[in-house]
Amino acid sequence: MTAAPLVSLSSGHHIPQLGLGTWPFDNAQAADVVATALELGYRLVDTAENYGNEEGVGEGLRRSGVPRSEIFLTTKFNRAWHSVAGVREAWENSARRLGVDYLDLFLIHWPNPDQGTYTEAWEGLLELRDEGKVHSIGVSNFTPEHLGTIIEATGVGPDVNQIQLCPYWVQHEARAYHGAHAIATESYSPLGKGQDLLAESVVVAAAEAHGVTPAQAVLRWHTQQGLVAIPKSSSRERLAQNLDVFGFELSAAEIAAFNALNGSGPKAADPNTFGH
Ligand code: A2P
Repeated sequence: MTAAPLVSLSSGHHIPQLGLGTWPFDNAQAADVVATALELGYRLVDTAENYGNEEGVGEGLRRSGVPRSEIFLTTKFNRAWHSVAGVREAWENSARRLGVDYLDLFLIHWPNPDQGTYTEAWEGLLELRDEGKVHSIGVSNFTPEHLGTIIEATGVGPDVNQIQLCPYWVQHEARAYHGAHAIATESYSPLGKGQDLLAESVVVAAAEAHGVTPAQAVLRWHTQQGLVAIPKSSSRERLAQNLDVFGFELSAAEIAAFNALNGSGPKAADPNTFGH
């Protein structure tokens, strides 16, 4: 059984470098895929209130028989809860739906700067962390500007920022900021949603050179650079393949060729104008 290496977080906890994304599974699919992924050796599972599948994810965790303590479970909350009391309620709701009594990582899903209360949400997360309800705390879709606002207000940065990141969307500026503030970078849509990216000639060439699939080459691009990646797949075979990416090394030239795809793919959502 494959196991992903771990990345140390500022909290002192450790996150597996490769995990399972669960959007857009419904409850039934999430239960099946989560149970299969855990059986295959996945130990990081990522969901969100907004995906509407936390109950199914929880069912998959229980069905797998893997002890809770071996699983790193992440969920995220919506803009309606961006207050200190609201985050507590969001935690209670997610914990109940998932059937767990703590979360490994709880994230502000989007900054929603139009609402202007993500700092209050961050203060709520700090309380939950101090009470042990959440082991590590973080954000998603935050730009360096949003990160600077919460760090200035509270003196504490997130353990993790989960952002859309793949060779089409390399996120140099965000990653430099994260590096300077001990924030782990977690890549969502790491396969570029599985479409054109996997047919790019540089990706196909690297895959052929290493005897792996294009998806494995892209996931190695993430993990070799210290990123945490959470690809989603509904197929058992591809789930297994996506976890099996630690037995080869891309060359510096291959990594540079992937980086050169930056900006050439579909546009990502803008966290200043999009969010829920
Ligand atoms: P499927 O669920 O049929 O496997 P992302 O995680 O970047 O959003 O990408 C998810 C998409 O990539 C899904 O459409 C998924 O399809 C596809 N995908 C996941 N793993 C692989 C793989 N190893 N090879 C090809 N496509 C994949």
